[in-house]
Amino acid sequence: MKIAKTALLARAGLLIVPALLLFGAAQGSTAPEPAAAAQYTATGELILPADYREWVFLTSGLNMNYSDGPLGMDHEMVDNVFVDPVAWKAFKATGRWPDGTVMVKEPRIGSSKGSINKSGIFQTEQRFDLEVHVRDSRRFKGGWAFFVNVGDKPAKAIPASASCYSCHGQHGAVDTTFVQFYPTAKPIAVKAGTFADGK
Ligand code: HEC
Repeated sequence: MKIAKTALLARAGLLIVPALLLFGAAQGSTAPEPAAAAQYTATGELILPADYREWVFLTSGLNMNYSDGPLGMDHEMVDNVFVDPVAWKAFKATGRWPDGTVMVKEPRIGSSKGSINKSGIFQTEQRFDLEVHVRDSRRFKGGWAFFVNVGDKPAKAIPASASCYSCHGQHGAVDTTFVQFYPTAKPIAVKAGTFADGK
């Protein structure tokens, strides 16, 4: 009697398991999209993307200088560039940044003195601010906007007359972004035919 009951339960289980699997699959197809990488306050200020350090790493630059004169800094400067994973997935497939793309440049003070280091520069915990480049053709007139988050505060879009837009527009190799300096992104754009020679 006991055995028969177990067998019945087991048979019921055989039916329940596929039903659960089907339910799971159906749920998977209607799963909500991940939250957009760019989040704004009610007045349109960009909220600092809290988890950008878990995004896709594009590059680091050391003491980069975009003018002919000396850099004129009294410290070393290291920039790290990240892009949100949803945008990166689309970029890998098309060589283009989709609407919703958020790119972050994180400038940090570099140092040569610390622990066992004898020469060369490493990055310190000291972050300046966060520079953010967002693509959203419905929200921004030129398709993209720049923001500078100081500390953890939300930031207003930088006005379109600022030099951020002109330098990126003239020299950025892919749609106002500096893909020429992002070693894993560049070959994708070259192959997709979206890479302009950003000189
Ligand atoms: C004279 C040229 C120039 C100006 C002006 C400039 N940038 Fe950039 N920007 C660059 C270069 C070059 C890179 C690539 C940096 C690297 O490889 O580390 C870059 C990268 C970035 C990135 C990474 C994403 C991307 O678009 O490639 C952000 C974000 C960014 N800059 C923000 C800003 C903001 C904000 C301003 C204005 C306050 C600004 N930039 C002004 C040259 C410029």
